This record gives sequence, C-alpha cells and structure tokens, in this order.
Amino acid sequence: MTQRLVAAIDQGTTSTRCMVFDASGSVLGAARREHRQILPRPGSVEHDAAEIWARAQEAVAGALRAAGVRAADLAAVGITNQRETTVVWDRATGRPVHRALVWQDTRTESLCAELAGGHGRDRFAAATGLPLASYFSGPKIRWLLDHVPGVRDRAERGELLFGTLDTWLLWNLTGGALHVTDVTNAARTLLMNLRTLDWDEEILAAMEIPRSLLPEIRSSAEVYGRARGVLEGVPITAVLGDQHAALFGQHCFAPGDAKATYGTGAFLLLNTGREPVPSRHGLLTTVGFRLGGEPPVYALEGSIANTGSLTRWMRDGLGLIGDADEIEALAASVPDNGGLYLVPAFSGLFAPHWSPDARGVLAGLTGFAGRGHLARAALEATAYQTREVLDAMALDSGLRLDSLRVDGGMTANGLLMQTLADVLDLEVVRPSVIETTCLGAASAAGLVAGVWPDLDALRARWRRDAAWTPSGADGGFRDRKYRKYRKAVELAKGWLD
Ligand code: G3P
Repeated sequence: MTQRLVAAIDQGTTSTRCMVFDASGSVLGAARREHRQILPRPGSVEHDAAEIWARAQEAVAGALRAAGVRAADLAAVGITNQRETTVVWDRATGRPVHRALVWQDTRTESLCAELAGGHGRDRFAAATGLPLASYFSGPKIRWLLDHVPGVRDRAERGELLFGTLDTWLLWNLTGGALHVTDVTNAARTLLMNLRTLDWDEEILAAMEIPRSLLPEIRSSAEVYGRARGVLEGVPITAVLGDQHAALFGQHCFAPGDAKATYGTGAFLLLNTGREPVPSRHGLLTTVGFRLGGEPPVYALEGSIANTGSLTRWMRDGLGLIGDADEIEALAASVPDNGGLYLVPAFSGLFAPHWSPDARGVLAGLTGFAGRGHLARAALEATAYQTREVLDAMALDSGLRLDSLRVDGGMTANGLLMQTLADVLDLEVVRPSVIETTCLGAASAAGLVAGVWPDLDALRARWRRDAAWTPSGADGGFRDRKYRKYRKAVELAKGWLD
C-alpha cells in the first residue's frame, strides 16, 4: 500500500479516540477507550495519566485493526487533546508525581485570587490573552509544586517534567525522547506570551514555576519525531489542542471563519488572522494554529458551560424524555416557547459573563407552559448562548461572519440547527465529516507528510452535509425575544452572593 493514510489520536476529557483517514478524508477505522474520572472532593477532577497512556495505545491498536492496516501503512500521525489538563512526571522513570489535574478542576480558585491580588484577574491578560482562572495550567502546576511533598525540590533539581496531554503522549510515544508542546496547547497554560510564542519569564517568576519543568514550544504542524511501539516508525507531524484542531478540521483557514462544537458544553472559535485580538467582551485570545515556520493564526474563543447537559438534565433530572434524541420531537410538539426562557447556569456562566456565582433561571412561567415549551426553551437557550458569544466576537474583532460551521453530537438535532440559524440570523453549516477534531489533526499531519499538498487541497475535499438558513422572521420580534433571554441572564448572575 502507498502511504496515503493518516491517523489522529484525540485524547479527550472522557476518552481517547484514534481514527485512520484516507486521502479523501474518509474514516477507514476508529476506536475509542474511556478512562476514569476521579473526583476526590467537590470541585476536584483528576485523571490517571498512566491509565490514559494505556488507553491511548489500545485505541491506536483498535483503530488500526478496524481499518485493516498496519502502522507501516501510515504516512503520519497527528495528536489532538483536551487542553489545560496538567501532568508532572519524573523524567527518569516516567512516573507521574500526582494524578493529572483536569481543566474542570477548581482547586486553584483561591490561588488565582491571591495571584490576582491588587492587579485584578487580568494581571497576565495582555501577555497571554487569558484571565487568571483555575481553568488554565499555570496555577495547576503551582499547586502541584506547593502541595505534593518533595515536588518543588525535585523540580528545581531538573528531575521533573510538566506537560499537557499532548506533551505526555508525545513523550511516551517517542520513548521519552521528546519533551515538546505546540503553540495552541502552550497558549492555554497562562504562561506563554502570545507574541513571542515563548514562555514568559515575568509570569514564570510571579507564579514561581521553574522553566526547566516546561516543554519546548513548537508549531502545530512539523516533523517532531518518529513514534515507537504501537505506531513504530510513524512520523508524528501535528499537535493541536482539540478546539484548535476542530477549527482546522472545519477548514476555518481565513479571518472571519468560525466554528462551534456542541457537546456537554460548547466551544466557539473565530479565526482572527495574523494579529492577536485582545478581548474587551469576555472572550479568550488564543493561537488558532501555526503551520511550521509560517506566522501564527490567532483566534478568539468563547466557551459555554452547559448545552448538551441541558438535554441530559431533562432526561435524568426531570424525566421529561426517555432518550436524549426525543428532545427534538418534544420541542417540535409546540409552535413556540410559550413565553418560557431558560438560563442553564447549572455551574455558573462562562463566556461572555464569567460568573461562577450564577445559577439557573426559568423565567416567564404561566399555567399555560407545558413540557413542550420547556424543551423548546432548552433548545433556544443553546442558540441564545451562542448569540451572546458571537456578538462578543463581532464587537472584539469587527469581523462579520458569513456562516457558522457546526459539529458535535447536538448537530443531529435539526430543530436546534434551524433555531440557531433564526436566532443568529446566520447560515449554519454542518460538514459531511463531523469528526472535525480528529480530521483537523489528521489534516495538519497529512499536510506535513505530503498527503495533501496545501490548504486548497483540503478545501477541495470539504463537503457540506446540511445547511440551515434563517427563516426570515421579523428582526424586531427576534431581538425582543433575545432581550427577554438577556433579562433572565441578569437574574441568574450573582445568585450565590
Ligand atoms: O478546554 C477543554 C477542552 O479542550 C476539552 O475538550 O472535548 O475533551 O471535553 P473535550
């Protein structure tokens, strides 16, 4: 077989997947292995990095088997991963010094408040594009240095290494030969300067993190090295954080291109071009991707905490539906929301509000409201939250979107997609390959390996599966409904105060 196949490993929050693609971008085989979510106390979320490495190898072997190919048939492999999650391990033994602190883990909240001090949460925002929040890796590293016995001394002696999951996989895949990360993952640590694309010495000093712990920052697409073991000899040629890989997999190559991935929560990224755009409206500034020696492409990101989790709540919490798929039919059983507005601030609100103290609100209740109206309000909540983020993106960047490219499990819900198009007054487009995270990592890897000659070849391969256009409802009516939702958001904010 000629080497025209590319694999991608997607190390996610709940599982690790591997997919094998052919040159047309079709999936030849895939496998997925879950790992444990370890919740030692409220607010703490941990993973066992050794378990993840074991599951990753099983997923790779499973995908090769499913595709009926061997490692030697692969031209390249790309890595994509849950971002921010922090592993520190011993460079001699490869053993983690503690379980990985997951991006959702909030144990560093008080440390972040302390680091913000009189400077405020935006203390490092000009350099990193990020507020001081427990979400990011830097405070998690500092927590491990401060709380795990012996770790600071060992780190200062140069015996330990830090990595996000990309770095951990690269290190293990190469038998400990590479301690490297890419710009997109490094951009989520709160330690990388967005302009120099290097670790920021001032921030390292302020956070008391020794530079010797940190990996070398490289581009998102280049030859890093060759894998050993389960992928023996395969060149590793792409590394991207998962949302950045999805941006690339959705072919958002030009400024103004945006994608939204809908899962438990939602992640929206907008390509803003060659200059980082600072946010004044509650978004994060990040690196979209960097292909080899080319200048980086920057992005604005808005994350929404609860979208798909609303459907789960209606199934498991309220028992309104027996199966998640039934939400669409229930919502379609009524012509409108019957005046109901639902703000799903179950765990606070993320972008653009960043209000950890917010809690959910159901507003506009009358005796007329029924299950169908509640289902409809739940779908609309996803659309309104998306509009809040897209409005912030427009204000920050001055860019106007032609369409929004969507992926993730919730995009199977046609009524939700139509509601999105109506609420946003924008075309919503779903591509034929919705595995955009793996596709993005494979596309970047295949570009380096010559499977695809350039971005145009990737563009030519892209197919839309479905698109929804605004149904032309009167704009005044649309804006009045949106204002009502925003009013309900104001009620939700600061609820725990
Ligand atoms: O920032 C966290 C994000 O990268 C996690 O994504 O898909 O693994 O939940 P996912």
